[in-house]
Amino acid sequence: ITDSRTLSLQLPANVEGAQSLGAPRVIGSGADEQNAVKGALDSLVAREMVTSEQVTVDVHGLTAEGNAIAQNGSHEYLVWSALPPLDGTPLTAQEIQAKVGKDVAKVGQGNAMKNKWVTKKGDGFVKAVDTVVDSTKEALLAIQSTGAHADEKLLGDLRKRKLVEKKKSFYFKVAKGAKFSTTIEKVETDLTVELLNSGAWEKASFKKYNFDAEGAPTNGGALHPLMKVREEFRNIFFEMGFTEMPTNRFVESSFWNFDSLFVPQQHPAREMQDTFYLKDPVTSTGFPQDYYERVKTVHQTGGFGSTGYIYPFSKEETSRLVLRTHTTSVSSAMLYEIANQPGGFKPAKMFSIDRVFRNESVDATHLAEFHQVEGVVADRNLTLADLIGFMEVFFAKMGVTNLRFKPAYNPYTEPSLEIFSYHEGLKKWVEIGNSGMFRPEMLEPMGLPADVRVHGWGLSLERPTMIRYGISNIRDLLGHKVPIDMTERSAAVRF
Ligand code: PHE
Repeated sequence: ITDSRTLSLQLPANVEGAQSLGAPRVIGSGADEQNAVKGALDSLVAREMVTSEQVTVDVHGLTAEGNAIAQNGSHEYLVWSALPPLDGTPLTAQEIQAKVGKDVAKVGQGNAMKNKWVTKKGDGFVKAVDTVVDSTKEALLAIQSTGAHADEKLLGDLRKRKLVEKKKSFYFKVAKGAKFSTTIEKVETDLTVELLNSGAWEKASFKKYNFDAEGAPTNGGALHPLMKVREEFRNIFFEMGFTEMPTNRFVESSFWNFDSLFVPQQHPAREMQDTFYLKDPVTSTGFPQDYYERVKTVHQTGGFGSTGYIYPFSKEETSRLVLRTHTTSVSSAMLYEIANQPGGFKPAKMFSIDRVFRNESVDATHLAEFHQVEGVVADRNLTLADLIGFMEVFFAKMGVTNLRFKPAYNPYTEPSLEIFSYHEGLKKWVEIGNSGMFRPEMLEPMGLPADVRVHGWGLSLERPTMIRYGISNIRDLLGHKVPIDMTERSAAVRF
């Protein structure tokens, strides 16, 4: 509790037995004992059995060197004791050093000469007197036991020599309290049903509430870092006037996931190594019949200015259920909906952020599932410049300003653009997203007017989250190796 590691209890005269107990008593010198005493005192104070007042005093304590001198004597004393009597064979300075050590000899020899304790004899030194009083040692011993010394000047000297130092110490003045007693009665902490029923509450004494207690830490809910970043994205979309698409369909038909997007049925992404197919049930027929016919036709024989893919379209293939491989399946279903809403097409800005699944081998940056952030904008006569301009505004809101676009390929967009940003940390251009203008082969079979253009883009939620939180292995973000309190410890994120 105190620097000087002592805690004293002083009992004033009005406490019975104070006289016989005497002046301040040191109770316990270890930290544990001190805490135990302080705890007991606090509990007596809480019961109002005693009052306690803390008194702080300045005391002096010895430094490590001061303690050594208090035990063995001052440097000058050690030099004096090492020397032979006046008539003995003198010791040279080197011999003194060898006996008492270099540091002690250096200071001690000069002081011993000044005190006239030793004298020169030839090339060496001998004792000048038979007895000496080592006043430094005595002063230190006095300070060690009382924490004080009457001679202020001496104290100042010893402080300068770094043999003693000032410390704070405190003690408690304890007096009888309002409920003073020599026995401790049991106090109730709660008003219970039993106390009420038995009537014991009338005579019971209750423990006072401690309104200063910190209380037990509460466990509040916390968002996972991915959900925090997701929230940031949602806010950006909302402030740009987007509405959120319903994404609660992890299982989707190949029709919405691929065929409605004009992805040919032979596309490599559909193969087992990329897409998870469902075993039970295997198929779905949950898609509009007339729209299905138009999609089938555009694949098989073309239309809307396109030659199509020229292959026999398989109903079995389009019915196969998959774990959706992208959220563009949701965008597709929503675009179909706005094309066929009552009152006809109206311009729309829509986004979604949710989970997708790909049959990939798991490594430091890939899992078999991740989150996609996706947006689509549908309006009449949109151009590629609108898409690029939009991207610059959208990514600037995330703090990403330096963008480049590279031609790419998606079966459902033409042109398609990969979005790159210059990463200051990695000192290179990194791909941050994929985008494009949806093809007429996808939009027109839905029933959208021919002058309606839709641009869309997608990016992963994991990549910006990992950059934001400085995580390089995705398995530190998701999965069974992540410590359970990681979520609580993760800071909030702001773009
Ligand atoms: N579906 C694409 C992907 O998974 C992203 C995308 C969405 C591209 C919309 C273009 C238009 O990478």
